[in-house]
Amino acid sequence: MKVSLTGLTKSAAKTDLFIVGYFKGEKGLKELKRMEPLFAKAVEAAISKKRFEGKSGEVFSSYQVGYRQAQEVLLLGLGEKKEHKAVSLRKSVGAIIGLANSRTAMNVRVFLDSFTNEAVSAEEASAIFTELSFLATYRFTEYKTQKKDAPSKAPGSMELVTEKKELMLAARPGMVRAEKIAKAVILARDLNNEPANVMTATRLAEEAKKIAEAKKLKCEVLGLEELKSLGMNGILSVNQGSVTPPALIIMEYGEEYKEQGTVCLVGKGVTFDTGGISIKPSKGMEEMKYDKSGAIAVVATMGLVSDLKLKLHIVGLAPAVENNVANDPQRPGDIIRMYNGKTVEVMNTDAEGRLILADALSYCEKYKPVAIIDAATLTGMCHHTFGDKTCGILGTDQKLVDAVQRAGEKVGERCWQLPLWEEYGESVKSHHSDLKNVGDGYAGTITAAMFLKEFIPGKTPWVHLDIAGTAYCAANRFDCVKGANGFGVRLFAEVLSNWGPESFSKAA
Ligand code: BES
Ligand code: ZN
Ligand code: ZN
Repeated sequence: MKVSLTGLTKSAAKTDLFIVGYFKGEKGLKELKRMEPLFAKAVEAAISKKRFEGKSGEVFSSYQVGYRQAQEVLLLGLGEKKEHKAVSLRKSVGAIIGLANSRTAMNVRVFLDSFTNEAVSAEEASAIFTELSFLATYRFTEYKTQKKDAPSKAPGSMELVTEKKELMLAARPGMVRAEKIAKAVILARDLNNEPANVMTATRLAEEAKKIAEAKKLKCEVLGLEELKSLGMNGILSVNQGSVTPPALIIMEYGEEYKEQGTVCLVGKGVTFDTGGISIKPSKGMEEMKYDKSGAIAVVATMGLVSDLKLKLHIVGLAPAVENNVANDPQRPGDIIRMYNGKTVEVMNTDAEGRLILADALSYCEKYKPVAIIDAATLTGMCHHTFGDKTCGILGTDQKLVDAVQRAGEKVGERCWQLPLWEEYGESVKSHHSDLKNVGDGYAGTITAAMFLKEFIPGKTPWVHLDIAGTAYCAANRFDCVKGANGFGVRLFAEVLSNWGPESFSKAA
C-alpha cells in the first residue's frame, strides 16, 4: 500500500474515490464548497433535511461525472468534534478502507485536514492514516490456491491531501515511522496466521534468525541439548509431548546502549496448545495455533526496534514449544525442577504457558535487566474478563505498569490492571513441591501471574501482559481481518520509544 501526502492544489489527476470527514453540526462547509461545489450543494440539502448529520460512521456519498476530484465523493461522519481522538480516528480510517475495499476503489484521495481537531494534529492523523492503510488492508492469502478466491486488495494507494503547506515536511517522519511499525505488525500477523503444522518451534527459530540477519541483530537459539544442560525443565517438560524439538530464541539489539540499562521482552511461544494430557475440548481448538502470539510479538518487535534505531539495549526471549500428546507427554502430578531451582507440581498440563515463561523469565537474570515485560496468551479467564478489547496487565512496579498502560492508550492497544496482592500467591503453593501450576480455580489471570512472579530475578521491575483475548480477532474488525492481529508489537514499540528513567522504578 502506497500512502502519499500532497498539497490540495497539486493533486490534479482524478482518483477513484474522494473522502472528506465531517463533524456533527459543522457549519460552513467552506473547504468542501471550494473543492467540490456541486457535491457541497447536495450535502447542504441532505443536512438541512436531516438526511445526514455526521454521526460517527455515517456516510453520504454521491456519484457524478462532473466532480473535480473523483467521480464519487464520500462524506464520512466523525461524530462530535470535541470527542474526536486518536482511537476514534483509527476506527474512521478503518471504515474508509472498508468502504474503498467494497467499491474496489484502487486509488483513494482523502482530505486530511477534515480529520483533525485539537486532540488529533495533522501530523498524528497522517501517521494514523499511514498505519491503518497497511493494517486494514492486510490479508493472509498464503493458502488461497485460486487467485479468484483471494479477497480484493483495494485500495492500493491512498493520497492524503492538505492545505497546510508546512505539513509536507512536518508529517514525513511520523509517516515513515508508522510504516515501519505497521510492517512489523504485518510480519507478526503473517507468522502467527501460519498453522502449527508449518510454524513449528524450529521454523519460528529460523524466522527469528532471518529477521536478525536482515536487521543486524544478535540471535541465539538454545536447542534441546542446551536446554537440557541448562536445566530448563519448564520448557522441556511441556515439549515432551511433541515430536519437534523446543527452542529458546534470544534476540539482542543495541548492546552499545547497555549503560542506560537493559530491557528484556519475553513472549510465550506455544506453537499449538492441545492442552496436553489435560486435553482441551475440540470446539475452537484450532485457535490454539495463536498460542504463540506473545513470542511472535517479541520477535517482530526486535526487528522493529532496529528499524526505529532506538537508543536502548533490548533483549527478546521467546521460548517455543508445542503442547501436544505424542511422544512421552508430561502428566498431571509430575514434579519438575525449574531453571531457577524451584520445584513445580504440574496439576494441569494445559497450564503450560507459565512453565515455559518461568524458565525464560529466570534466564533474564543473565542480562541484569532494569525491567522485564512479558506477553502471553496465558489464561482463558483473561479472555472471559476483558473480551477481545482489553489486555490484562499485572506487575510489580507501578511506574512500569503506568508506562505500558499509557503506551497502550496512545496506540490503541489498551491494557487494564489487575492486582498482584500477596494473598493470591497462596493458591499456587503446592503440598508436594514449592509450587503448582494452577490456582484454586478463581482469579485465574492473577494466580497465573503470581506463579510467574516466583521466577522474576530478584526485585527486577516486571510487567506481565495477558493477551489471551486480544491476540487474535474472531471476526473481521476495522483494523484487522479475522485471524492474528499482531497485538503487542505497537505497544512494545511505543513503550520502548518513550523509554526513560520515569518508565520504571530502580530495583532496590
Ligand atoms: N493457551 C491457553 C489460554 C488461552 C485460552 C489463550 C483461550 C487464548 C484463548 C492456556 O495455556 C491455558 O490453557 N490456560 C488454562 C489454564 C488453566 C488450566 C489453569 C485456562 O485458561 O483454561
Ligand atoms: Zn494451555
Ligand atoms: Zn497455552
